[in-house]
Amino acid sequence: MRVHVALSPSEFADAPVSGRTVLAVDVLRATSAAVAACEAGCRRVVPVPDEAAAEALRGTDGVVLAGERGGHAIPGFDLGNSPDEFTRARVEGRTVVLTTTNGTAAMMRAATGAAAALVALTNVSAAAAWARDQRRDVTVLCAGDNGAFSLEDAVCAGLLVVRLSDGEPGAELSGGAVAARALGLHYAGHLWRLAADSPWARRLAHQAREVDLAACLRQDVSTVVPVFAAGGFATAPAERAGLAAGAAGRDGAGAGA
Ligand code: MLT
Repeated sequence: MRVHVALSPSEFADAPVSGRTVLAVDVLRATSAAVAACEAGCRRVVPVPDEAAAEALRGTDGVVLAGERGGHAIPGFDLGNSPDEFTRARVEGRTVVLTTTNGTAAMMRAATGAAAALVALTNVSAAAAWARDQRRDVTVLCAGDNGAFSLEDAVCAGLLVVRLSDGEPGAELSGGAVAARALGLHYAGHLWRLAADSPWARRLAHQAREVDLAACLRQDVSTVVPVFAAGGFATAPAERAGLAAGAAGRDGAGAGA
């Protein structure tokens, strides 16, 4: 298996996607929010390029408009881009139309691969297991920061690479994948340091969004992998059944004695 990481959007045009499994990562905060939305039972997350494209879908049955620009919620939209906003009460059974500064562009590019999914720190092990099961070469697209490198995305991509390549003698890593892997190993077990080291994390903290940093800089709190199908990223059906069973158990339904 060949594994490549495009460390910034400036590398997307040359990054191999055709015939590959492609994952988009935007730890702060778009893919973390999308994982949270799927965890909360949304029907799917549809990435769109801008506010106008999102507005065009307003009023469509079951649609919720979400997103941000520069970290701030978009006026008139139903939701911003904080993972905690995507609660069951707000999104269960609904289509989340999402537009964000960097993340949704990476998602749309990923969707051109043979198979595509979203990865965040919150679901990195589950996403790696899913990618491995696809049995294709893998490309990871880091959403970055206004076209440039973003530390937390590279760290997440690197932790994914570790899971794909360790114990896999056939794994062939590109230079971007090797660099990401090294960063992932450096921060493994110390993800909270990203809150201080990442420029975007510091900007979010400046906007009093420490709650979002706490929600996004956690590893493997979800087994949900949003996978692209029919225009949006949705929890795979088998996982969806598991989530429904879990929710029923938590709600007390079906609990015996
Ligand atoms: C983005 O797409 O740039 C981000 O998700 C920004 C954010 O919501 O913090």
